[in-house]
Amino acid sequence: MSGERDRYAVMGNPIAHSKSPRIHRLFAQQTGEALDYEALLVEADDFAEAVADFFFSDGGKGLNITVPFKQEAWQLADRLSPRAEPAGAVNTLMVKDGALYGDNTDGAGLVRDLTVNHGVELRDKRILMLGAGGAARGVILPLLEQGPALLHIANRTVARAEQLAEHFAPHGALGASGFDTLDDDFDIVINATAAGLDNDVPPLPEGVVNPHTLCYDMMYGSGPTAFVRYCTGRGAARALDGLGMLVEQAAESFHLWRGARPDTRPVIQALRHQP
Ligand code: ATR
Repeated sequence: MSGERDRYAVMGNPIAHSKSPRIHRLFAQQTGEALDYEALLVEADDFAEAVADFFFSDGGKGLNITVPFKQEAWQLADRLSPRAEPAGAVNTLMVKDGALYGDNTDGAGLVRDLTVNHGVELRDKRILMLGAGGAARGVILPLLEQGPALLHIANRTVARAEQLAEHFAPHGALGASGFDTLDDDFDIVINATAAGLDNDVPPLPEGVVNPHTLCYDMMYGSGPTAFVRYCTGRGAARALDGLGMLVEQAAESFHLWRGARPDTRPVIQALRHQP
């Protein structure tokens, strides 16, 4: 421990590839906040102990949580923010009044990237969400809060899409289906599946992505993702990857911890030009 600078970290497994330390160090430089931020590899069975050690033995101030521990972090938290509770996942932890407090900034990051960075209006739009896993669940409520005409969830395993639609039904207009019955009636298509990890895309019928569609992949990579390439190939109006979401969710966590809101634009640019 340095003794002087407040300590933050991201926990996950694997973690070596994480861009969070770089992003938060850039935020710290920019805002003049004195802090250290490191990446911590945690073994599957050690998560709860690692979190307890970090906060209560080592004096850590804040954690980001990534794959595969976001659900476990949700269970571990003593208190949850209103947006983390329905998300079923926590990506930000801190200690408040002696208790472990969990928040989820992923959805806010997605909404901010779409609406502020890319100028995309979500109100009254018909949004198609591909995927019904943890990544999808974490962003549904913040999307619904933007007042879309419809948020339709399509998933390979239809029952998971139906369960999510039912869970969030009190919060907005939701639909659920598999991929094969989808039509071309969507303004925005958001990919929240893990297909990109295998350089794959969900099996969409022709026409779902067309020259009127705005595509957003919650994944990002050093080059265009499989979904971005797929959408570009079908002439989509726009095809955006999730780099901005990554930086925006980090900024939201940083703000929660430090009270300072970093300017994300130069950080997104730095990561885009030097992945
Ligand atoms: P995550 O936390 O990344 O969302 P997850 O909870 O395991 O991970 O969910 C992965 C999502 O990607 C699911 O919606 C999954 O579909 P199933 O529910 O049918 O398993 C989806 N997925 C993974 N690989 C896919 C592929 N090749 N094509 C389409 N969907 C895929």
